[in-house]
Amino acid sequence: SHARIGLVGLGVMGANLSLNIADHGFPIAVYNRTGAVTDAFVASAGDLAERLVPAQTYEDFVASLSKPRAIIIMVKAGGPVDAVIADLGPLLDEGDMIIDAGNANFHDTRRREAALREKGLNFIGMGVSGGEEGARHGPSIMVGGNKASYEVIRDIIEAISAKHDGQPCAAHFGPDGAGHFVKTVHNGIEYADMQMIAEVYGVLRDGAGRTPSEIGALFEAWDKGPLKSYLVEISGKVLQTADPKTGQPMVDVIVDTAGQKGTGRWTAIEAITLGQSPSTIEAAVAARSWSSEKATREAGQALFGDDAVETMPMPSDATLEKALLAAKLIAYDQGFKILIAASSTYDWGIDLAAAAEVWREGCIIRSALLDDMAQAIRAGLPHDQLIFAPTFADMIREGAPALRRVVAYAALKGLPIPAFANALAYFDTMRQGRGTTDLVQAQRDFFGAHGFERVDGGAGQHGPWAGTVSHS
Ligand code: 6PG
Repeated sequence: SHARIGLVGLGVMGANLSLNIADHGFPIAVYNRTGAVTDAFVASAGDLAERLVPAQTYEDFVASLSKPRAIIIMVKAGGPVDAVIADLGPLLDEGDMIIDAGNANFHDTRRREAALREKGLNFIGMGVSGGEEGARHGPSIMVGGNKASYEVIRDIIEAISAKHDGQPCAAHFGPDGAGHFVKTVHNGIEYADMQMIAEVYGVLRDGAGRTPSEIGALFEAWDKGPLKSYLVEISGKVLQTADPKTGQPMVDVIVDTAGQKGTGRWTAIEAITLGQSPSTIEAAVAARSWSSEKATREAGQALFGDDAVETMPMPSDATLEKALLAAKLIAYDQGFKILIAASSTYDWGIDLAAAAEVWREGCIIRSALLDDMAQAIRAGLPHDQLIFAPTFADMIREGAPALRRVVAYAALKGLPIPAFANALAYFDTMRQGRGTTDLVQAQRDFFGAHGFERVDGGAGQHGPWAGTVSHS
């Protein structure tokens, strides 16, 4: 029998995505490099097995697909993707498409798309968010690549995606790497979101001496208010979970060194390359990097001990909630600016509101706020700033004093909250009409004759530095 779509790579994500596709009535050809995995997968698929078309060779796999062939590959990002493409490419015909559903670096996606296009093949870079559950029951899907090719499989992709009020959380964002880039920024925001929640946990744990289950209960309560989101929800659950082995809170038996597979870091790197500086996302990436230096941190603790200089009253729970909301909005503001910058540099024509829309359900950063964000973007962001949009400007006006209080408290108490601190610094910069780079410009002109623009007009001006007293 012929299937319209196939999938290579039956790891957890690939297997779940296949079941999701089958569950929506689409027969799907499946292949895994280790054939026994394919057999075991089909054997465990229950009723859905009848819609699975297993193949043990690429030749059989390709032969079981109707044309134009559409092949999803869900293997580890990087070399393995190139290896699968190298094996499959020669077996495909003009107009066929390969869809990379992994967390690829969008530069790789652009390279692969260009290489396959030369051979008459289409390459779709498709970001999929939502973890194992999402893959099985409805992920958020961010597509990039040839639009006409996407149209061929769009019904399948929309069917398997999460829904928001019946609308599919799947969209095509532009050619080549656009979809993978949107997914990368999603992950960058995910990093910031997670870090900010962890910072609040730190303030409550080390500032107020609250227990994990108390903090978890607070997060559970916040999940009923404006912070309602998947990450706040799971953080509440995690903190209220006990370790079956010791009976201690689960977080207390987890080593505080966080890994990263790259997407958060890529967001920061690409942003900087694009002339942006997503300082909240950078802070989250930095916090993970620093966390891995555990021995150093322990030595630092022995060396510097309790460095708190002064204390001020612990911010109230309501203040922390408002501060987290404000900081989060600032992280999204920075994330959207990266998308705007990349879209213009790579000529993708990304629909920013559509990004917010597909993030409303299915993905890791899904939250009640995203619907409001989508609406604000559709109405037009003043100066490309999410936080300048009327709804959010009001929230920031209300949240900024809380953010200040929390950052001040943590600073005095000696608690690191880099993402919060960066959010505040960014906000204060964006609300300061006259900054301090007038002096930086003067310094540059002094030592390098770089020139500056005068407030009363005229670019390329120089200061009267010659003969200036130097005390060296
Ligand atoms: C998702 C997640 C998922 C994964 C990332 C981040 O959207 O479902 O982002 O793709 O969690 O790879 O992983 P790291 O934290 O290991 O970088």
